[in-house]
Parts: sequence; C-alpha cells; structure tokens
Amino acid sequence: MIDTIATEIPEGQERLRLEVGEDGLGILTLCRPDKLNAWSWESTRQLGLLADRIRFDDRIRAVLLRAEGRAFCAGIDVTAPGGAITGRSAAQRTRNYHEGIRWAHERFAAFARLPQPVVAAVQGYCLGFGFELALMADIRIAADDAVLALPEARLGVAVDAGGDLRIARDAGAGWAKLLALTGRRIDAATAERLGLLQEVVAPAELAEAARATAAEIAANAPLAVQSVKRSIDAYADAAMASALDRTALAAALTLTSEDAQEGYAAGAYRRTPRFEGI
Ligand code: COA
Repeated sequence: MIDTIATEIPEGQERLRLEVGEDGLGILTLCRPDKLNAWSWESTRQLGLLADRIRFDDRIRAVLLRAEGRAFCAGIDVTAPGGAITGRSAAQRTRNYHEGIRWAHERFAAFARLPQPVVAAVQGYCLGFGFELALMADIRIAADDAVLALPEARLGVAVDAGGDLRIARDAGAGWAKLLALTGRRIDAATAERLGLLQEVVAPAELAEAARATAAEIAANAPLAVQSVKRSIDAYADAAMASALDRTALAAALTLTSEDAQEGYAAGAYRRTPRFEGI
C-alpha cells in the first residue's frame, strides 16, 4: 500500500528537494535524474509534505519548480505498474485505487493551491504526469528542447491528475482532446503557441530565465501577489474541483483494467500494445 502516514523524508530517499534562498525563493527540485525524474506514489507523498512546508514559510514569496538532469519528468514510473495498490477482487482494487487517487489529488491540491506563485522551468521530456505537474504551476518557462505529451491513453489509462483539464483551461477543449486522446508529442514552440508555455529560451538560459521571473514576483508585495493568484484561480479553476472528482473515478476504472496491464507491459518491453476495451 501507499505510505499515507509517514511525515518524514528519509535521507537518500528524496524525490524532491526544497531549498529556501535569501531572495524569497523556495526552490523545489525533482532530484532523480538517472530515472528522468519518473514519478511515484512516494514522490506524491513528498510533494504534499513539502507543499505544506512552503505554505506556512513566510520567507518564501515565490516558488521555482525545477528538475535535475536532461528531462523535467518522464511521467509515472512505468517499471512499478500498480505495485502500490492491491485488493482481493476487481471491485476492491477499483475502490482502493479510487481512494489512492483521491489521496494523491489532495497532495496535488496542496501544491497547485499554494498561496505563493509557482514558476516551472521545463527542459527535455515533460511527459504524462510530468506535463501535469508543470501545468499545476502558475507560469511555465521552457527550454527549446522540451518535448511535451500526455501519453496515458497509449498506456491504457485516463489522464489522472488534471493535466487534460488544465490544457482545456489554457488552450481550449479541442487541443486538450487532441493531445490527450492521441498522446501526441508537441515541441516547445507549439506549446508556447497554444498558451501552455509563457516563455521559451535556449537550454543554457533556462535556469536564469525561470529564476529571474520567480525573483520578479518575489520582489512584489506578498499579500498583493497572493491575492491576485487566488482571484485568477477562482475564475480560471472554477470548475476544476468537480472535474477532478470525475477524473479520480476515471483513473480508478482504467488503472484496474486489463488494458492498463497490457499498456504498461508493452511500455516496459517497448512493444505495441493490443487494447480490447476491457
Ligand atoms: N518510468 C521509469 N523509468 C523511466 C521512465 C519512466 N516513465 N522514463 C525513463 N525511465 C528510465 C529508463 O528506464 C532509463 O533507466 P536505465 O538507465 O536504468 O535503463 C533512464 O530513465 C533513461 O531513459 P531512456 O529510456 O534510456 O532514455 P531515452 O532518452 O532513450 O528515452 C523516453 C526517453 C522518455 C522517451 C523513454 O524513457 C520513455 O519512453 N519513457 C517512458 C515514458 C512514459 O510512457 N511515461 C509514462 C507517461 S504516463
């Protein structure tokens, strides 16, 4: 099962690292570059803990979300298919997945609804959950080598953390459907044209460009900045909570399907999946 109780991040087991700078920036770094920062239930647990710390740390006026290595995040760890959640029947597995996803959504909400604005710096692969995480940030700046996609349907599962909803919000429902239903990859220039990225720079300039934008926000009045973020989110995310509720059920249904097992196995062995709708 998922560890939903622990409140510590053991040394050497960090999936994310938080540093607080002198300049009012909280720097949140995905730090598993040898696995292209592939995401797990443990990553979600740590994100929730760190979001809770950031929320009440008044030294942090803006957050910079960044990732070590050549990729921002290559999505869910496909080498651990459903390993965290079990059940004695199909119904119980679906129920357990549903609760697991709801628990994950609560951690994601702690991050996505932080009072402090979040600027994401995206390089290389930004796939699946990686794209969804970047979309939880308030502003996205990417290197021109970024490759973005929601390949979940190719693996037999629904998009499970609201990435498709946030694309519908920012780029329109047609683009959300095109990207999530095909799993097609887009480059940084296309994502910028769609309004999913606010700035695209050369890879060597990414760190400085993202930091400069976060610092520009951090230099402004915190109460004003946080009020503006809240107001825009109240408008732009008005339908988000009820849609995410539906997403949790869709995720539970598809994660426990035979097509998901087939999709993950095909992904792990780099073969084409055979889906049957079961
Ligand atoms: N889960 C687990 N491990 C992953 C991973 C993932 N999603 N993505 C990459 N890795 C690991 C690889 O297994 C490899 O580890 P190894 O060196 O121990 O073998 C390492 O990260 C580097 O990846 P590699 O595949 O060698 O790099 P690449 O540049 O050839 O390809 C990708 C990069 C992203 C195209 C490819 O890794 C990939 O297709 N990953 C899966 C993407 C995916 O389907 N994500 C799920 C979305 S829902």
